[in-house]
Amino acid sequence: MSRLDSFIRRLEAQRRILDWAAKSVTNSNGLVLELGLGNGRTYDHLREILPKREIYAFDREARANPRSMPPESALVLGDMAKTLPDFVERHGRSAALIHVDATTGVPERDRIHLAWLPEHVAALAQDDALIISGSNLEHPALVAVSLPDGIPEGRYFAYRRAAP
Ligand SMILES: C[S@@+](CC[C@H](N)C(=O)[O-])C[C@H]1O[C@@H](n2cnc3c(N)ncnc32)[C@H](O)[C@@H]1O
Repeated sequence: MSRLDSFIRRLEAQRRILDWAAKSVTNSNGLVLELGLGNGRTYDHLREILPKREIYAFDREARANPRSMPPESALVLGDMAKTLPDFVERHGRSAALIHVDATTGVPERDRIHLAWLPEHVAALAQDDALIISGSNLEHPALVAVSLPDGIPEGRYFAYRRAAP
């Protein structure tokens, strides 16, 4: 498969899983967190399908397309290794949905650079929160759940946050 095919499949899988996740959290309260704003494509999709939810986006710097830029009050800039624990201090375990999209596209690199991430994700997620991630997250409080139909194996991962 060419890299173009792989990229298209990734975007299709992202849209499918975001739509599925948005439906799954309609009956729960809580924040929606986008970990990895990047160009802002998935953030923009989330705010379109969840117009009434409070959505925070995180990234090192604000590089999103101006049409996908979150309001300043909902944008958390800096290294997430630092900004996520700061956010937990301010908001506690308050997220109903977390979309983790901090991947570099190279799984071996992610495993090293993002080794701290699962701990922070677990600390942000309220009981039974849904976490969807482009990379595998290993943490005892994150229980893997089945993906919706049409998501190729290993392309995305989904978890529920177990109660402590
Ligand atoms: C794959 S891109 C996100 C794509 C985005 N969701 C979109 O749809 O356009 C990954 C993003 O994660 C961010 N990122 C990766 N590690 C980070 C870290 N430790 N702290 C803050 N941002 C990080 C990168 O800066 C990059 O913008």
